[in-house]
Amino acid sequence: MDDIFISDGNAVLSRIVFGDRVSDMTAILGICAGKEDRLPLYIITDSNTDRYADVLAHAAGVMHNVEVCGQYRIDAAEESKTMSSVLSMVSWLLESGADRNAFLLAVGGGITTDMAGFAASVFKRGIRFAYMPTTLLAQVDAAIGGKTGVNYDSYKNMIGVIRQPEFTFICPEVLETLPSRDFLSGAAELVKTFLIQDGGNYAGSIAFLSELGEARDRTAFLKENAARLSELVHAAAAVKAGIVSRDQFESGERRKLNLGHTFAHAIEKNARMAGDDISHGEAVSMGILMAATLSCRTGLAEVGMDNALRNDFMKAGLAADCPYTAASLAEAMAKDKKAENGKIHFVLLSRPGDVRIVDMAAADAVGILNE
Ligand code: GLY
Repeated sequence: MDDIFISDGNAVLSRIVFGDRVSDMTAILGICAGKEDRLPLYIITDSNTDRYADVLAHAAGVMHNVEVCGQYRIDAAEESKTMSSVLSMVSWLLESGADRNAFLLAVGGGITTDMAGFAASVFKRGIRFAYMPTTLLAQVDAAIGGKTGVNYDSYKNMIGVIRQPEFTFICPEVLETLPSRDFLSGAAELVKTFLIQDGGNYAGSIAFLSELGEARDRTAFLKENAARLSELVHAAAAVKAGIVSRDQFESGERRKLNLGHTFAHAIEKNARMAGDDISHGEAVSMGILMAATLSCRTGLAEVGMDNALRNDFMKAGLAADCPYTAASLAEAMAKDKKAENGKIHFVLLSRPGDVRIVDMAAADAVGILNE
């Protein structure tokens, strides 16, 4: 599969590289080492990804210009996505003798890549880094586009920077063992991407997920249909890379990638307070459906578009029903970090593949949903 590039019009900022096996990545690390004597590699993993670090360390061991200097395991839980975890990572880098030539490789899901990317961005004012995302969510969203950061005071991703990884290595092998719920969480971001820019892939992704849901043996289905899934992941990565290339710092078009997210963040906040277990992707799929209803009720979309989407989501096994009241969501949304002058940039949908940004107060949006 062809590499995908994120550029700012002048220079390539980041490269998305596709490979069949985890060990294929070491060749890319060798290229990153370039003409330097050796690439001092520091690998960040979480409890789900230690096994990949072993494969990488072994494969890197045979490369003359890559030296594995250490491996550090973080706790990839939303509660641990904090400044204090980042500072612990920084302490480990210092204790391990990392200098400004250090190269950080984060192997894991979105929490791991967000935190490691942030640590790499601030350690000694910024060192080189790259990602090997091991969840579908990270492959199509979190590990592409350079958003890094941590949560603060119950707000998600409140502290962070946008800084592009040197490369993101995407490999289908890691998805074969992904638990079904995690897979569907990532699928929500995959479907979201095609709702923003379709190219025929929205229907394709719904069909793929419906068939996966009906398969007797999930792992066998994913193995047999690996090429189909890889094409969807490649297409989603290309859509996101295109948008980020045109609007890296989210002053316009990139906001479209937040489709469903204003509602999703409010849902996640309510879930945290109630002690409920709702994943990011589940909140995103519920949030997209709320955005679709808002789109129909404001006249942007034809009546019934929201119900059609709901049917698709249910066929695909994506979460559809939000368990919280509109009033509790409104309260959380009013404090959304993206609010400007009391208004939020809601991403509305006229039909799959066509979204618009509409500024609205949270209370007005919720009032319309309550009608
Ligand atoms: N996850 C949305 C973005 O990267 O802009």
